[in-house]
Amino acid sequence: MNGGERLKREAAEKAVEFVQSGMVLGLGHGTTAHHALLKLAEHLRSGELESIQGVPCSREVEREARSLGIPLTTLEEHPALDLTIDGADEVDPALNLVKGGGGALLREKIVAQASRREVIVVDEGKLSPALGTRWPVPVEVLPFGWKTHVRFLEGLGAEVVLRRGSGGEPFQTDQGNLVLDCRFGPIRDPYALARGLDERTGIVAHGLFLGLATDLVVAGPTGVRHLQSRARS
Ligand code: A5P
Repeated sequence: MNGGERLKREAAEKAVEFVQSGMVLGLGHGTTAHHALLKLAEHLRSGELESIQGVPCSREVEREARSLGIPLTTLEEHPALDLTIDGADEVDPALNLVKGGGGALLREKIVAQASRREVIVVDEGKLSPALGTRWPVPVEVLPFGWKTHVRFLEGLGAEVVLRRGSGGEPFQTDQGNLVLDCRFGPIRDPYALARGLDERTGIVAHGLFLGLATDLVVAGPTGVRHLQSRARS
């Protein structure tokens, strides 16, 4: 395992320490959250944790969780979740996030909204002075009329790229939608940008997760830190 991967694992495993038997969990998508899945499965096998149920943030995570023997449930059965462990692409000092590098942003945001605790696990490289500095903001759009949003987003100052899969075909989300990756550069007022995106018909979701994270677990070469958000704690 390389150094970056080891940091992801350390952050994810620290977050699993917050899980207690009987909890209903949101299961995040991405390479960092994957380490949490592995640890949860290990604790369930050893009996250290019992009666855990999870709501996966993507079809891929659903498959992984099933193959690891993690019991699954739905937001219909459990509209309020105790705790979610998920990754992020960029984290600002107020624990606002850019998410969606893996394309699961819509389900991730629904799950985050439903969670009493949203624990974000990252390596130090994801920390940023301002959202947009290091990572484009993914915007999920309906296929109908998608190019009209390119013009709209360019009007907001973004460089816009249609996300493609490994074979060059347009990437499709679990909902069958498209993703426009929008490079804004450092975003001065993420709340104003989020409002503008939320108001646009045809935009289904965007990767600005503002005021949703309650906890951040960040791993670096000198150790693992746990920070809590003033906004939701
Ligand atoms: C998935 O859609 C994303 O929001 C991920 O949580 C985010 O991209 C972080 O992924 P990694 O842990 O793989 O970097």
